[in-house]
Amino acid sequence: MVDHASLSGKRVLLVIAGGIAAYKSLDLIRRLRERGVRVRAVLTEAGARFVTPLSVQALTEDTVYRDLWSLTDESEMGHIRLSREADLIVVAPATANLLARMAAGMADDLAATVLLATDKPVLVAPAMNVRMWEHPATQDNMTRLERRGVRRVGPNDGVMACNEFGPGRMAEPMEIIDAIAAHFAEAAHKPQADKPQAHTPLSGKRALVTSGPTHEPIDPVRYIANRSSGKQGHAIAEALARLGAAVTLVSGPTRLPDPPGCAVVAIETAREMLAACEAALPVDIAVCAAAVADWRVAGTSDRKLKKDGGGPPSLSLTENPDILATLSQAGPRRPALVIGFAAETGDVVAYATAKRARKGCDWIVANDVSLGTTTFGGADNTVHVIRADGAEAWPTMGKDAVGARLAEAIAAHFQTPTP
Ligand code: C5P
Repeated sequence: MVDHASLSGKRVLLVIAGGIAAYKSLDLIRRLRERGVRVRAVLTEAGARFVTPLSVQALTEDTVYRDLWSLTDESEMGHIRLSREADLIVVAPATANLLARMAAGMADDLAATVLLATDKPVLVAPAMNVRMWEHPATQDNMTRLERRGVRRVGPNDGVMACNEFGPGRMAEPMEIIDAIAAHFAEAAHKPQADKPQAHTPLSGKRALVTSGPTHEPIDPVRYIANRSSGKQGHAIAEALARLGAAVTLVSGPTRLPDPPGCAVVAIETAREMLAACEAALPVDIAVCAAAVADWRVAGTSDRKLKKDGGGPPSLSLTENPDILATLSQAGPRRPALVIGFAAETGDVVAYATAKRARKGCDWIVANDVSLGTTTFGGADNTVHVIRADGAEAWPTMGKDAVGARLAEAIAAHFQTPTP
């Protein structure tokens, strides 16, 4: 549960674009105001087809800003002031069209102009048909925006107004509020966040991140592997480096470029990964995001196994070292903060809580990899962060955003250690 105390007195500029989910934005305004947030709204022309300006005005108890060319709005409240006099801009619903205009830097209506003119953080809550969300154009636009620092909450899976099923539903108002509160809570840890100076709360700290799959050889040409893409681990390494940590990334084979600012050690097997991790010690932070193979083939063949008519060979497996458990129990060389991942199916939080105790790590980031979820290889992740004091559910977001938020949580931990 995210603490909403940081919301009181904050100024949110809410951009309501044209989608059926706009009706939820009315509830969002009401709930934000209940928490002491000052909400000012920009309604796009399409947005005004779904909710009336009068409802928005009544709920915000303020003018509804709609027209770039309105003399009244421009003289009393120019678009620059509108965007600057907010602590955060929230776009909900963020339609495919508005995301595309934001990504392209267009300024063809008041909403787009405000978003282009602003120097304030922006959070988007996408809402659209599943095919539109999954279209490479939208995905590219979203990735570009996230790279520029735009935050995202949702979209969620579910049945949509058009009767299709899949990701595309706007996050629920309370999830959006949690994301807003998390943003302000993190910003509170950033010294002089408005200043363009580098935000490096982890400078002086050393971090080790494992990422990707391992490849366990069967013979010189074959190996056992898994579907890990390495996206999550690489995103965490990059985010930690951005916050000033000296990062060693120990990675199994992936198709990803090396993240900027990290020393990358490329390995193939679990035993090589363990050796590289031990060589990187001492570190302050260890994040084990790799999907390490639990087993390797005992007695690997030096020669390619042949189909010689004698039937398939039988492979005997032996257990790999557990890198997370080894680092968690490394005695005086144990990193101050050890974080593991748990890819589970079913009762994710219960299994992950048990895993945290079993492995001896401090936090576990748990995600659901049941069939039907796209965590493995996909761009998004829905995680629960389990610490000694309980589990926190994070809304679905891009793996880059999970990495950024985890890095901020790590930085906050070192400022005020939490269990
Ligand atoms: O036991 P399980 O594989 O589910 O645990 C997952 C966590 O343990 C991940 O953080 C993973 O990186 C780590 N792990 C490891 N070495 C292993 C197996 C898992 O570091 N051999």
